Amino acid sequence: MDCRFQDKYFDLVYMPVYDRTVASIAPYRRFIEDSAGRLALRSGSSVLSVGAGTGNEILHLAKHATATDFSLVAVDLSRRSLRRAQSKFYGHGDLLEILEMDAHRLAFRDHQFDAVMCLHTMDFVQDSVAVTLEIFRVLKKGGDFIITYPTGRGSSGLAGEIRRSIAGNLRRGRLLSATAEAIATLGASVVYAPLALSNSRRKHALPQSSIERLMESLAVKEFTITEDPAYQDLVVLGKR
Ligand SMILES: C[S@@+](CC[C@H](N)C(=O)[O-])C[C@H]1O[C@@H](n2cnc3c(N)ncnc32)[C@H](O)[C@@H]1O
Repeated sequence: MDCRFQDKYFDLVYMPVYDRTVASIAPYRRFIEDSAGRLALRSGSSVLSVGAGTGNEILHLAKHATATDFSLVAVDLSRRSLRRAQSKFYGHGDLLEILEMDAHRLAFRDHQFDAVMCLHTMDFVQDSVAVTLEIFRVLKKGGDFIITYPTGRGSSGLAGEIRRSIAGNLRRGRLLSATAEAIATLGASVVYAPLALSNSRRKHALPQSSIERLMESLAVKEFTITEDPAYQDLVVLGKR
């Protein structure tokens, strides 16, 4: 799948149904909550979300923040996703700035942000190393970051987590929740199929040793790499 087609597919097909399909399944919600929860939002912080999509991670971050004086900037190539993200901040529009922007060329000053997050996006960019360099260019020294990278190993853990979630709902007699999750999963498989067929995850995979070398070349001293059990992405969390 060429990149322009993929970008159009995101904007016209995948992201408009994202919140009712991919983002409605339990492993996704858990992943976003865990990831956003690992980034502290301090008073006066400016946070950049790269490949923000429909804004779920920044919404989670804002909801759970103890501080109220922070600013969030969301960038994505998909205008429709960003509009949806903006609508989630209805009434709190001053907290969020949304910008249609390519992650390879972030139009920000060096060391502008206190924190950067980039979740489930490296799978789809043309050059994940170039995007990582851009993220570290705009991140302040001592700033926090969380970035996920695809391993290319597929997401076999995802099916198991979805099965357990549906079974759990059935055991508790929550037939509607179980049915809704099954429908969302089916929808997610259908809309994800063209992206999976393009084999993008394997193509864009970065082995852990390459990520470690990349962090070292960027003089990132504090970082951990863990593997998400469902998506089997590598989650890199640290401080610049
Ligand atoms: C799977 S979605 C993830 C959205 C969100 N981070 C989440 O986890 O819910 C991937 C997002 O990356 C965006 N994207 C892909 N390539 C991009 C690029 N080069 N620059 C900015 N955004 C990009 C897509 O438009 C899409 O919104």
